[in-house]
Amino acid sequence: MRKLLIDPYGRTLSYLRISVTDRCSLRCLYCQPQGMRVSKAPMEEILTFAEIREAAEAGAELGIRDIRVTGGEPLARKGCPDLVRLLADIPGIRSVSMTTNGLALKEALPALLEAGLTGVNVSLDTLDRKTYERITGKDALKDVLAGIGEALRLGLPVKINAVLLKDLSLENAFALIDLARTQPLCVRFIEMMPIGAGKDLAGLSCRALTKELMTHYPGMVPCREKLGAGPASYYEIPGFAGKIGMIPAACGSFCSRCTRLRLTSMGALRPCLSSEKEVDVKEILRSGKDRETRMRLLQAAYKRAAEEKPQQSTFGSRPQPECMAEIGG
Ligand code: 5AD
Ligand code: SF4
Repeated sequence: MRKLLIDPYGRTLSYLRISVTDRCSLRCLYCQPQGMRVSKAPMEEILTFAEIREAAEAGAELGIRDIRVTGGEPLARKGCPDLVRLLADIPGIRSVSMTTNGLALKEALPALLEAGLTGVNVSLDTLDRKTYERITGKDALKDVLAGIGEALRLGLPVKINAVLLKDLSLENAFALIDLARTQPLCVRFIEMMPIGAGKDLAGLSCRALTKELMTHYPGMVPCREKLGAGPASYYEIPGFAGKIGMIPAACGSFCSRCTRLRLTSMGALRPCLSSEKEVDVKEILRSGKDRETRMRLLQAAYKRAAEEKPQQSTFGSRPQPECMAEIGG
């Protein structure tokens, strides 16, 4: 019988998010803004591609089916397409997608597609050049849009992730949603989470935004079919080629459907984004033991991580994660 990872609350864990670097080419004001002291792990502390592959293989034997490569900015790590290939080749893995800030996406796309990438999420909070620069610290909106355009042209499924900063206008959301009018992409809004610099920023709730959108777009309705492996709920607007998604990350309403574990760039399994609890796997990967023993120990580590999954997000209690860039968003 196929092995599965099931947590104490009956959730089957099939989705692994892998942070491949804590470095990033941007300084988003809710993550690691300019001026914030960020300590970066020395390169030798970061898992190598071979180590990441081995950790993912152990997961696949326990029923991990979908992998998302994140960061920091995954494309800031040299040779990222090689890693995508290593992961896509693992027996039992059916999708390898990536979350990126999009700056280096356009150039990387041919190699990523060739390596077997199955989808891309691009972080983009605004279509206004000046506002983009204010949020991310870089005047790079053009590059992000070029990456999105190229991904669509090449037929790669695209989702846009926009963090709901309170001081952004409704018009800002309407402009993003307009991308889905003619293009088959998903525009998803994420509630601000109390992680990194996001702890001190005001956000807007998905519930409040949905209410506004329902008024602005008559006919907007929840999608009937279940879309994606993640926590988003989706809406359709008549005449639109793409869809709108809501990720109420701060309120934790989707925890009962959570299927995910995270692997940090430093080599630890994290049961939940909302907590600093982790299970070390780097120690196993670097133990010098034979492969069979390592695989057995890695699988035991996955089971421990599954057992540590909280029933609900524990945002609001201590200790809380310090930085999204290290654990992967
Ligand atoms: N709250 C919500 N989303 C965040 N991200 C980074 N920090 C936060 C936060 N505090 C988002 C990024 C990206 C994804 C990886 O996580 O914008 O879309
Ligand atoms: Fe922005 Fe993501 Fe980079 Fe953090 S890791 S600075 S959210 S692009």
